[in-house]
Amino acid sequence: MEGQMPLIGDMFPEMEVQTTRGRMKLPDAFAGKWFILFSHPADFTPVCTTEFYAFQMRYPEFRKLNTELIGLSVDQVFAHIKWEEWIKENLGVKIEFPIIADTGTVANRLGLIHPNAGSNTVRAVFFVDPTGKIRAIMYYPAELGRNFDEFIRMIKGFQVADSQKVAMPANWPNNELIKDRVIVPPPTDVQTAEARVQSGEYECYDWWLCHKPVAE
Ligand code: BEZ
Repeated sequence: MEGQMPLIGDMFPEMEVQTTRGRMKLPDAFAGKWFILFSHPADFTPVCTTEFYAFQMRYPEFRKLNTELIGLSVDQVFAHIKWEEWIKENLGVKIEFPIIADTGTVANRLGLIHPNAGSNTVRAVFFVDPTGKIRAIMYYPAELGRNFDEFIRMIKGFQVADSQKVAMPANWPNNELIKDRVIVPPPTDVQTAEARVQSGEYECYDWWLCHKPVAE
């Protein structure tokens, strides 16, 4: 692996990549937008094909959320193009987002090859915000296709968290305790902790577990 792989909170490393839509500079090509970079083990494989179908079906929703998608595998661009053609002809869906044709350089830089899980790229997902900062990283093995509705939930959650300075509870917006309400950051000093409970500004289980509705 070249250098340390980037972690949550790091800026996405600058790189130029070959894609099905031409050469692109990352993260600059998506400046001002969210983007999700995801890797798959190989073109023309069954689970990966279902994943591309699922991602493309949700692409309009991601774009409404100011979010772009970019795939990656260590395959030639010709293989990506042929696979896209196969998907269009057989599944009736045109893949509209770019796919990186990696030689292994990007995979090594991002830590996408996990030697004990095989020689292909794992199913990795990087969530990058409009400033180019990595906000989440996920890894899945070859045998488990990803849940793309969760990625939509994550982007929505990040956007509410950033705009309202709140945090999302488990399973938001269907949390078992506080439903679609969001968590107010806990106070970090005694005066604010005491004032928070007394003020009644928020609904609280305790001073460190307060919640409120999402602002309109
Ligand atoms: C698949 O996408 O079906 C797959 C890819 C690599 C290894 C195993 C399965």
